[in-house]
Amino acid sequence: MRSFSRILAAVAALAGAAGLVAPARAQDYPTRTITMIVPFAAGGPTDVVARIVTAHMAQTLGQSIIIENVVGAGGTTATTRAARAANDGYTLITGHMGTHAAAVPLYPKLAYHPEKDFEPVGLLAGTPILILAKKDFPAKDLKEFIAYVKANTDRMNMAHAGVGSVSYSSCELLSSVLDIKPVGVPFNGTGPAMNALVGGQVDYMCDQIVNAVPQINGGTIKAYAVATPERNPSLPNLPTTAEAGLPAYQASAWNAIFAPKGTPAPVLAKLNAAISKALDDENVRKRLLELGSDIPKAEARTQAALAALMKSEIEKWSAVLKPATN
Ligand code: MLT
Repeated sequence: MRSFSRILAAVAALAGAAGLVAPARAQDYPTRTITMIVPFAAGGPTDVVARIVTAHMAQTLGQSIIIENVVGAGGTTATTRAARAANDGYTLITGHMGTHAAAVPLYPKLAYHPEKDFEPVGLLAGTPILILAKKDFPAKDLKEFIAYVKANTDRMNMAHAGVGSVSYSSCELLSSVLDIKPVGVPFNGTGPAMNALVGGQVDYMCDQIVNAVPQINGGTIKAYAVATPERNPSLPNLPTTAEAGLPAYQASAWNAIFAPKGTPAPVLAKLNAAISKALDDENVRKRLLELGSDIPKAEARTQAALAALMKSEIEKWSAVLKPATN
């Protein structure tokens, strides 16, 4: 009897070594804690959206999801780490229009390629861009803001979350539309950047709406316009850039979950389903909508839809942005 069980053990070991049990592992996924890398400081828009959605995903998946904030280089430090992580589904990243699109034209020697080094898992939220300024900025509306930054461009401090971030890229677009060259002031995320704006240490910022709604409603900063064709329901009194006289400035970002290339399909499918379940949850929807997010409809939630979005966004921002000089 003993030799038979020894033979069984040897066969099982061989099968394991040959990866024959891999599908079984993918089917059982997840069996332990998942790490979600957030490429910016806690408290910023990427962190806030990630925490809202992953908290619900953890319930569905039956395992905890711990957020690891890894900062630096406009989110590309973290994204490089995620690209090199094991493709077993236990290390994921919440990326966005910056890390998985705008970074490509901004960093000619980027250590990863969003399409080659990642599997798209699912879109979390669309996040319109707002033009924001410190509370005592000497302009009462967008027209006066434009006149002031043009007249004082070399003295303007524009806050952003590093070259490649959404805030950097969307304000680079604004600078090209207005033909201005402000002084860029980098932070490890627009959470800390917002603190500096509230404190009046920087002059203005282009930021995702989810980071600004509480401050705008609290009257601690100024908001001049939202850079989307329609007003946002969370800020009904904020004009669009078109209404405010700058139709040429249209900018919106998005946050999404990615896994390292080669992560097994059944794992990706489970994660994608857990994202969709979170986006259909009443409380998750309420919190995302209150912060001004656009919640993806079913057809935008597929892996293929995210792959297509990423491809079109890389093309779009490659036409707008050049390698960073400062
Ligand atoms: C960005 O500017 O890319 C993000 O808003 C930064 C952040 O999420 O903190």
